[in-house]
Amino acid sequence: MKGIILAGGKGTRLFPSTKIISKQLIPVYDKPMIYYPMSTLMEAEIKEILIISDNRNLNFYKELLGNGKELGLSLKYKVQKEPNGIAEAFLIGEEFIGKDNVALILGDNIFYGQELSKTLLEASKIKKGALIFGYWVANPQDYGVIEIDKNGEILSIEEKPQNPKSNYAIPGIYFYDNDVIELAKRLTPSKRGELEITDLHKEYLKKKQLKVKLLGRGVAWLDSGTHDNLLEASMFIKTIEKRQGLKIGCIEETAYKMGFISKKQLRKIANTLPQNSYSNYIKRIININ
Ligand code: DAU
Repeated sequence: MKGIILAGGKGTRLFPSTKIISKQLIPVYDKPMIYYPMSTLMEAEIKEILIISDNRNLNFYKELLGNGKELGLSLKYKVQKEPNGIAEAFLIGEEFIGKDNVALILGDNIFYGQELSKTLLEASKIKKGALIFGYWVANPQDYGVIEIDKNGEILSIEEKPQNPKSNYAIPGIYFYDNDVIELAKRLTPSKRGELEITDLHKEYLKKKQLKVKLLGRGVAWLDSGTHDNLLEASMFIKTIEKRQGLKIGCIEETAYKMGFISKKQLRKIANTLPQNSYSNYIKRIININ
């Protein structure tokens, strides 16, 4: 399975912080935001990843992450000229996806929790259709919302409804079969002029090929859409990291843990990083594992 990280958008809500850099480059506590979705895809054993952003920022991402080789990854980059909608990722990524299945993660979505890795690994084995997730939130009207019956069958799916039919928001990580490219091609822009991810999911639902898995309360899905959300996410990461002495979203550690790189390779990376708490952490990981 291949993976796409969508890291463009206008970043309007975070202006002026996003005046000159893309939102997903802003740090969440001790690392750039994009490290979190990247390590989430890696936990699903996805090694071939396409990063999509606007023309100006794409070079920053290339500088930050390179070709991914030292992490055992293959990273590719593509421009989204305008934020024409999340589902455009599959048109931009058509060549990259080729004949494979694909996972899409939004560059501002942070996931953390027990069993998450297992859930993602299972999701990445999808053969047919699409798999999305449901997560109970207090403010479903701010998200895509999914309504499910007692048997887990999907009844409806709506984008930011004024009167949500349930409290289950749809987090920004999705798994698809290869049909996603053709289905995305058939979409037309919504009233707000975007190719909506929710419309794509409605197409899968029509074909009876949309599945949903609920993420339990033990999983944290954090939003980094506003300055308050960003600060809260940073505080959350700091609290857990300080308590456990283990980092969240450390892509070098994830590469090692997932067996993409050896201990020797991890040591080499650690030695090239500046002396600080981040590189000291990686060195500690090498010594305790
Ligand atoms: O976070 C999950 C939610 O993400 C879902 O529940 C919604 O169904 C989905 O529409 C989306 O809602 P948002 O309001 O968060 O979408 P937003 O326009 O803020 O875009 C999400 C991320 O994707 C953001 O980091 C910017 C990036 N993006 C967005 C668009 C529309 C792009 O890179 N290109 C785009 O064209």
